Amino acid sequence: MVNRDKLKKAYAEELELFHKLHPTSIKNFENAKDCLLQGVPLNWMVRYAGGIPLTVKDARGVHLTDADGIDYIDFCLGDTGSMVGHSPEPFVEAMADIVKHGTSHMLPTEDATWNARELTRRFGVKYWQFSTSATDANRFAIRLARQITKRPKVVVFNWCYHGTVDETIATLTPEGDIISRLGNIGPQIDPSYTTKVIEWNDVEALENALKDEDVAVVMAEPVMTNIGIVHPAPGYHEKLRELTRKYGTYLLIDETHTICCGIGGYTREKGLDPDIVVCGKTLAGGIPVGVYGFTEEFAQKAEAELVALYGLVKGIGGTLAANAITMAAMHVILDKVLTEDFYKHAIPLAERFNAGVEAGIKEFGFDWSTTQLGTRTEYWFLPEVAKDGTDAVNHRDFDLDWYMHLYALNRGIFMTPFHNMAIMSAATSEADVDRHTEVFREACEKIAD
Ligand SMILES: Cc1ncc(COP(=O)(O)O)c(C=O)c1O
Repeated sequence: MVNRDKLKKAYAEELELFHKLHPTSIKNFENAKDCLLQGVPLNWMVRYAGGIPLTVKDARGVHLTDADGIDYIDFCLGDTGSMVGHSPEPFVEAMADIVKHGTSHMLPTEDATWNARELTRRFGVKYWQFSTSATDANRFAIRLARQITKRPKVVVFNWCYHGTVDETIATLTPEGDIISRLGNIGPQIDPSYTTKVIEWNDVEALENALKDEDVAVVMAEPVMTNIGIVHPAPGYHEKLRELTRKYGTYLLIDETHTICCGIGGYTREKGLDPDIVVCGKTLAGGIPVGVYGFTEEFAQKAEAELVALYGLVKGIGGTLAANAITMAAMHVILDKVLTEDFYKHAIPLAERFNAGVEAGIKEFGFDWSTTQLGTRTEYWFLPEVAKDGTDAVNHRDFDLDWYMHLYALNRGIFMTPFHNMAIMSAATSEADVDRHTEVFREACEKIAD
């Protein structure tokens, strides 16, 4: 069991050590407070363990160096944005070349067509569009689905995350009411006008949500990843497909994180058959990108709508979407980096990482568990992995979370914030993983009863 007194003391010690080790990052943070809101370029960065983000000086492969000259093994990898590793060589060369030829001219380049065909090979759906983020890809896909179906609503899963898309930032109360998610800044209009929220893996709730035939699209990560990894129950995906078809609702599978499963995400691995696929993040090696693709049937209907609107399409776009540099980045990443070989190297490392964590948990008798999804792995402070979003949320333990993160950080290991998740890359080595195992064990030893 975890000894809470020891945990409190150990966290205080780690915080002190963090301050001792990072004078430059702390100075940079304080210094930025008169020009960046709360001293950070993006508000959630104040929520890193220790309350202060490291200032990055350099990142190559899976190693980060901070402004104090400390080296970290990066298991966060930009929360998938840099799953391919920081600045892989072919990407560096392609980027150095493309910037000599203009980066953004609001015209297509040949890379866009190559990328679309490659995405089709990977994910199955035939027609593609690009955006500057996966958030935008989701937003635009929702718009097309609404335009085609003339239905107002979307279905999402409780505690999901699909980017900052208003329709999706909604949760269920214990009484089953739909509310704006706690902490949603400047909340949208009452989300129950736009959204039905149901629990993951609940087939009955799914059918109830669809049977009024007012839902344009169900949006699902094929495995929930943003409240921790929550796998689908056996047969759930089949039901999801069957019921969305039965009630004439489109099925959108968001592969932005589950691209960790293989070159075509979970969709390809499990032979899913969605109407719409969304992805982004690592597809362009960390250059901002989103993609949304759809079936022939969806494309024909979308095209008919676009023709009827005389091309006066508003609400979908972005000046920089599909710009030359993003398209060149995606081309080289898909062609040379995010290949079958990438996953052959990275997935066994995730298994090794998990085994190391499980050994530590067992040695100290903690009632924690681990779960893995392709190159992504994490541990939980509950005896069995969660079955849905509510189960996951009810078992969060912020004290333990911050301690484990900070203990690792102070020993050169950078984990993904907000949950104890690690991502492997082609550049990750067995030695990197074993270093984590060692540090994890030490962290457990300090707080064990
Ligand atoms: C499943 C999923 N979809 C979409 C997004 C949004 O991605 P972006 O921040 O690139 O817009 C995220 C971000 O974490 C995500 O996890």
